[in-house]
Amino acid sequence: MKPISVLFVCLGNICRSPLAEALFNHKTRQRGWKDYFIADSCGTSGYHIGDPPDRRTLANARKNGIEINHRGRQLSQQDLDRFDYILAMDEDNYADVALLASGKNLKDKLYLMRHFDAQAHGTSVPDPYYGGEEGFQQVFEILDRSIEGFLDYLATRHSLANQHLKR
Ligand code: 4NP
Repeated sequence: MKPISVLFVCLGNICRSPLAEALFNHKTRQRGWKDYFIADSCGTSGYHIGDPPDRRTLANARKNGIEINHRGRQLSQQDLDRFDYILAMDEDNYADVALLASGKNLKDKLYLMRHFDAQAHGTSVPDPYYGGEEGFQQVFEILDRSIEGFLDYLATRHSLANQHLKR
């Protein structure tokens, strides 16, 4: 089976989306689904091309048992075709992806990440860049829940075998 490809998108690709990618990889490994998926992340902006994730994101992820390996890159036209799913962190990111698609149909492909958050209060994963440490932990918890929900959705939509090793 061809792997299902998933792209996480934020503005800078140094805080939210690299963490989302790493959490997704962590959780697919935990569920024994590693071979079913390919994940990547990118930014709508070109502000941090080639940069490692923000040190606050790295520190917070590590505190929560997650390692991130990623360098910043910018969303491209080809990404819109190459990926099966595109998860936007906030409404601005969502609008920018839709704008780049300029009329191309992204139905069943483009979603807001928090669409899958069982406790969603609002639609966006808040941008933690200009805030304090607590914002990074809040982002972690939102993404942790949202990705669980997204994986449950994928399991149903793609009839994935129930191979939970650990939840
Ligand atoms: P991210 O956070 O979109 O979650 O990676 C940001 C990172 C950098 C900037 C804005 C948001 N910036 O303006 O440089």
